Amino acid sequence: MQRFSSAVLIWMACTSAAIAGAMTPRPDPEKGRQLAERVCVECHIVSSRAESPVAADVPSFPAIAAKPDQSMEAIAGRIVIPHPPMPAIALTREEIVNVTAYIMSLRSGGAGP
Ligand code: HEC
Repeated sequence: MQRFSSAVLIWMACTSAAIAGAMTPRPDPEKGRQLAERVCVECHIVSSRAESPVAADVPSFPAIAAKPDQSMEAIAGRIVIPHPPMPAIALTREEIVNVTAYIMSLRSGGAGP
């Protein structure tokens, strides 16, 4: 039993290392903002300033950032795993990290975790 639980612990450590590995590119929120203004702005309000005529049922980026317990990992997961009506958007890992960092930068009180 003891042996089994350490195997599980090692497995968990590897899994989180893999998740952390997906985050390795250095996040560049400025590049993320440019990407958001090009790609995501079609549907989302992408800044705390913009007043755009987008669908009311699409969460704005500041609203996404402000969710309690929001994290880079959770946002990236939402982007990577397609969830209708949001289409699957082909982004590189670097673009995902950048845009995620940008969204987290909108979290009130400044920088996220
Ligand atoms: C064609 C319209 C469309 C585009 C383009 C789009 N989105 Fe979305 N997105 C949506 C909709 C609609 C939802 C809400 C879906 C839901 O509630 O599950 C959503 C939800 C999300 C969520 C999850 C919000 C939550 O509640 O946690 C994230 C994160 C997100 N979008 C990020 C992005 C990013 C980043 C881009 C640009 C790379 C983008 N979206 C482009 C329509 C779009």
